[in-house]
Amino acid sequence: MLCLTVPTDPAWASAVMNDLDSVLADHAHCEMKAASNALSLAARHPEAPDVVLALTDLAREEIAHFQEVFAWLRRRGIELGPPPKDPYAVALRRDAVELRPSPLPPLVDRLLVAALIEARSCERFKVIVDALASGPLSELRAFYERLLATEARHYRTFVDLAESVAGAPEGRALARLRDLAALEGVIVQNLSREASRATVHG
Ligand SMILES: [Fe+2]
Ligand SMILES: [Fe+2]
Repeated sequence: MLCLTVPTDPAWASAVMNDLDSVLADHAHCEMKAASNALSLAARHPEAPDVVLALTDLAREEIAHFQEVFAWLRRRGIELGPPPKDPYAVALRRDAVELRPSPLPPLVDRLLVAALIEARSCERFKVIVDALASGPLSELRAFYERLLATEARHYRTFVDLAESVAGAPEGRALARLRDLAALEGVIVQNLSREASRATVHG
């Protein structure tokens, strides 16, 4: 799906179905982090007005997602709790910095890392939709179905912005995305060797 090189381990779907409440609480924090990352990128790159406009729009959508997931938490009587650790995002940002130096502006990598996080979230939401297919939680399933379409659009937004920041010749950001996607696949495989956790990126 999208640019991902490795599919999610089926064990993750079982971990999710065994502890849906933990995934929902983690998911709420992921939406909050997505909003704050988009705002932080916009604030740090005033020289790129297209990025500022697109990412402030995107942040607005992520805040709306947060509020929707938060409403699900309250409906189910779940505490939001403190943000769980996200070793996936930490490893992805670290490995992207350590990857062979890119001739492109650093903003390109930041946008591509965000694109990969969107792609993986989208892929995982599809796993949740499939796992909920036969259960009684049809409203929650419909919610994730709607969300995964939005996150796929966010993936596209980040990739298009990265391409535009990278400039001519066309395709330089996409080549870098392929390298980063390979790294992302290794991170996901390494994490799946540990016990699958009931978190969005666990
Ligand atoms: Fe979102
Ligand atoms: Fe998103």
